[in-house]
Amino acid sequence: MLLTRDDWYETSRDLDWTFTAVDEAVAFPASWSGAGGIPPQAWQGWEEPFRVSYRDYVRIQREKESGVKAVSNALVRSGTYEKLDPAHVAASHLHMGTTCMVEHMAVTMQSRFCRFAPTPKWRNLGVFGMLDETRHTQLDLRFSHDLLGKDPRFDWAQKAFHTNEWGVIAVKNFFDDVMLSADCVEAALATSLTVEHGFTNIQFVALAADAMAAGDINWSNLLSSIQTDEARHAQQGFPTLSVLMEHDPQRAQTALDVAFWRSTRLFQTLTGPAMDYYTPLDQRKVSFKEFMLEWIVNHHERILEDYGLKKPWYWDDFLRSLEQGHHAMHLGTWFWRPTLFWRPNAGVSKDEREWLVSKYPTWEDDYGVMWDQIIANVNSGAVERTLPETLPSLCSLTQLPIGSAFSRHEVGKHATVHNGRTYHFDSHISKWCFDQDPDRYAGHKTVVDRFIGGEIQPMDLGGGLMWMGITPDVMGDDVYAYRWAKDYVSPAATNGAPAPQPVAVAGD
Ligand SMILES: [Fe+2]
Ligand SMILES: [Fe+2]
Repeated sequence: MLLTRDDWYETSRDLDWTFTAVDEAVAFPASWSGAGGIPPQAWQGWEEPFRVSYRDYVRIQREKESGVKAVSNALVRSGTYEKLDPAHVAASHLHMGTTCMVEHMAVTMQSRFCRFAPTPKWRNLGVFGMLDETRHTQLDLRFSHDLLGKDPRFDWAQKAFHTNEWGVIAVKNFFDDVMLSADCVEAALATSLTVEHGFTNIQFVALAADAMAAGDINWSNLLSSIQTDEARHAQQGFPTLSVLMEHDPQRAQTALDVAFWRSTRLFQTLTGPAMDYYTPLDQRKVSFKEFMLEWIVNHHERILEDYGLKKPWYWDDFLRSLEQGHHAMHLGTWFWRPTLFWRPNAGVSKDEREWLVSKYPTWEDDYGVMWDQIIANVNSGAVERTLPETLPSLCSLTQLPIGSAFSRHEVGKHATVHNGRTYHFDSHISKWCFDQDPDRYAGHKTVVDRFIGGEIQPMDLGGGLMWMGITPDVMGDDVYAYRWAKDYVSPAATNGAPAPQPVAVAGD
């Protein structure tokens, strides 16, 4: 007689054995499992709600795969790509270059769960997570490969992480830390719970909605398909947090507080500009801030409350940064556009500015004045004055420009001296993160450190671009060739009245 699923399920996912030829501590070193200080029996209560069997998993994934492939095959042939708004397409270049290899890094993280997680139930779920992430990597690669003939920027899906492009270094720095270097427990808190269960919603739900509105059904479909997997394997975070709350709540609090801020800064860079500036105005669903408030803030607050944790000490400053951080990153990335492998959209035509002010009431005072100067330079034919000649100073934690976390009125000095070296930060919060575990971050050199140390030659923008792997065929420039600036050419100026005087802008 065949057993029913319920008869064998528990045994199949909770299969463990007692070691006789090797010490448990050698087979499962605490430095890999992260279970140091937590009694082994504590993991017996580790439960996840999905209860998926391998046979079910393969069947469902196969259906998902054929769904994505059918849509993709039909659309690649239909010429839909050529009709997409170029600013929207830039968002897909940015996504593929910065995300595809993160999916691949997640394969390694999940395989660590498969092998070293402190309970067989978790190791079992890790197998599915590993297969998920392999699928995500391959989806991104296939999507990009299909479009490679249309634009060489899609090559960056595979290439980006083998370059020194500064934005890619910032992404890699974070995921090296929370995926590749973290033990299982910490990776579950920082990656599964914070990134996968929270922040990926911005990339995979909000951006998927924007992509659908923009007519990019192929990409939207891919993003949504990936998110269905994330929602499942992200569950590894919750039971891990439960165990930690019983045995080491402070460790959970610190790990989550650091991961939440680092994720915020990263998504202010990757998704904020795409949502609030690149997505064509009539296709925007909600603002980046609104989505963050609904999907990330509410969600994180609920987790913290459910598990008895406090809000991060920097909560009010985090909320303030929602008004600022991604605007600053957008202005900075647009200004340093030759260092990008995608073409950013300034997104500051008069209509777009009106929308920005309706969502961010202080935008004009904080950012509009700087864009005004850029516009004046563009309209007086001095585009070269809107281009960088130097590098911005970078944060030793986030690798992002200093001055890009809050408004231009709040640029303060935040530094730590550790083993004789001074580290600078983009905010008091990033400094705090670094100070929790300085040795963890201290060895990394920012792009500017490398520049000053003579690793980048010649020591100018051209040398920097070469070092970053930026070639002329992908180098970033304004996606609409400054067309939006025409909005601001006043009739008076064209009648011979003096045009605004060009002034060099130092970026953000
Ligand atoms: Fe993934
Ligand atoms: Fe994932």
